[in-house]
Amino acid sequence: MPKLPPFSIFIALFLLCFTSKSIEAYDSLDPIGNITIKWDILQWTPDGYNALVTINNFQQYRHIQPPGWTLGWTWVKKEVIWSMVGAQTTEQGDCSKFKGDIPHCCKKEPSVVDLLPGTPYNMQIANCCKGGVISSWVQDSRNAISAFQLSVGAAGSTNKTVRPPSNFTLKAPGPGYSCGAAKIVQPSKFAASDGRRTTQALMTWNVTCIYSQTLAQKAPSCCVSLSSFYNETIVSCPTCACGCQNNLTQPGSCVEGDSPYLSSVVGGPGKNSLVPLVQCTSHMCPVRVHWHVKLNYKEYWRVKITVTNFNYRMNYTQWNLVAQHPNFDNLTRTFSFNYKSITPYGVINDTAMFWG
Ligand SMILES: *[C@@H]1O[C@H](CO)[C@@H](O)[C@H](O)[C@H]1NC(C)=O
Ligand SMILES: *[C@@H]1O[C@H](CO)[C@@H](O)[C@H](O)[C@H]1NC(C)=O
Ligand SMILES: *[C@@H]1O[C@H](CO)[C@@H](O)[C@H](O)[C@H]1NC(C)=O
Ligand SMILES: *[C@@H]1O[C@H](CO)[C@@H](O)[C@H](O)[C@H]1NC(C)=O
Ligand SMILES: *[C@@H]1O[C@H](CO)[C@@H](O)[C@H](O)[C@H]1NC(C)=O
Ligand SMILES: *[C@@H]1O[C@H](CO)[C@@H](O)[C@H](O)[C@H]1NC(C)=O
Ligand SMILES: *[C@@H]1O[C@H](CO)[C@@H](O)[C@H](O)[C@H]1NC(C)=O
Ligand SMILES: *[C@@H]1O[C@H](CO)[C@@H](O)[C@H](O)[C@H]1NC(C)=O
Ligand SMILES: *[C@@H]1O[C@H](CO)[C@@H](O)[C@H](O)[C@H]1NC(C)=O
Repeated sequence: MPKLPPFSIFIALFLLCFTSKSIEAYDSLDPIGNITIKWDILQWTPDGYNALVTINNFQQYRHIQPPGWTLGWTWVKKEVIWSMVGAQTTEQGDCSKFKGDIPHCCKKEPSVVDLLPGTPYNMQIANCCKGGVISSWVQDSRNAISAFQLSVGAAGSTNKTVRPPSNFTLKAPGPGYSCGAAKIVQPSKFAASDGRRTTQALMTWNVTCIYSQTLAQKAPSCCVSLSSFYNETIVSCPTCACGCQNNLTQPGSCVEGDSPYLSSVVGGPGKNSLVPLVQCTSHMCPVRVHWHVKLNYKEYWRVKITVTNFNYRMNYTQWNLVAQHPNFDNLTRTFSFNYKSITPYGVINDTAMFWG
């Protein structure tokens, strides 16, 4: 690989951590990445239908981490959910007008969450019950999917009278995704496990959700520090890269690493909060990526990348790192990390994804 001045390294990495905030509803490193929700009507019932809902993550590197997804929508008519398999609504709502059988959920705007691992087998379906965690396409495409079944009542039971729900929302787990309207698409086909017969849905709707960094959070979530073998100076993350320590207006916006209160803060109330609880640093970033140039020859160069977690509320067990750098489409060797070049389109083809 050609020799590169450290200056270009600096520019390339900084682009990643910082420009993403100016790009709205569009990720230049994964331009067609999306999450598609597919709603397959499998059977008409006397007052509605049974459907299989599948959430597919078609994003190359973005995944859904604990505590998992929450899917919401607004019923257009007076639909109710009689029952669900593989997921549940967070609230039942007011079902007081029902006698006899009580629906699973009567809310106009239900919120659905995945069931947890270890759910009894009779309440499971394929691809359910992972606590709402969905892998990215590159890391594990077989687990880039989640599914549940529901039985909908008061819906009309012909393809002319049913209406797809509107205003889909996907929290994964926080904000960030915006979903389009449901579209009628070609009915899905399902192959039997022996591959000798194919069945098909009676009707299929697709909803596409797209991630936007601006919706998710204003501040960047990582910063880059640099060092090299030929200079002892470490260029650290810029001060206030992800936010500033502000003891006056937001006391407790960060925690000192040696604070005796740390364990009570981390395990205490708000421990499931999605707001990062970061260690006090000058950059205030939940994650720091350190880029150390170890060798820089004319023929090749070698760097050591160190990723540090400063967020006490996150374990990032499924972490991945996406970096753009000249020649990243052709790394010769990686140690310790998995690597895949992501080549979204011709112009930006020097982007790579690393994961543990
Ligand atoms: C969603 O992603 C899939 C897979 O990359 C792609 O085929 C599809 O066109 C995308 N859909 C939209 C609406 O962008
Ligand atoms: C609908 O979504 C599924 C994946 O969930 C995808 O395979 C299919 O191509 C989509 N259909 C259209 C027309 O986008
Ligand atoms: C509804 O079903 C009829 C046949 O039963 C079919 O001709 C028609 O295209 C279907 N309409 C939709 C919107 O799927
Ligand atoms: C969906 O959201 C839009 C805008 O927020 C709103 O105007 C519309 O009434 C909503 N639709 C339903 C069925 O609630
Ligand atoms: C090391 O880096 C610092 C900061 O970039 C610079 O001021 C200094 O001149 C460099 N020293 C050498 C020997 O290159
Ligand atoms: C905030 O408090 C920390 C120690 O609690 C201190 O190191 C830091 O300088 C303070 N920052 C400001 C802007 O006052
Ligand atoms: C992170 O992992 C440790 C050890 O595996 C565990 O004790 C802790 O509760 C986890 N924290 C979170 C926020 O998941
Ligand atoms: C990748 O690098 C090797 C040498 O390290 C070279 O032979 C090969 O042509 C390169 N491939 C591309 C696609 O640039
Ligand atoms: C990557 O893009 C550069 C210029 O944009 C081009 O010269 C190079 O051939 C591309 N590499 C691959 C593997 O497509």
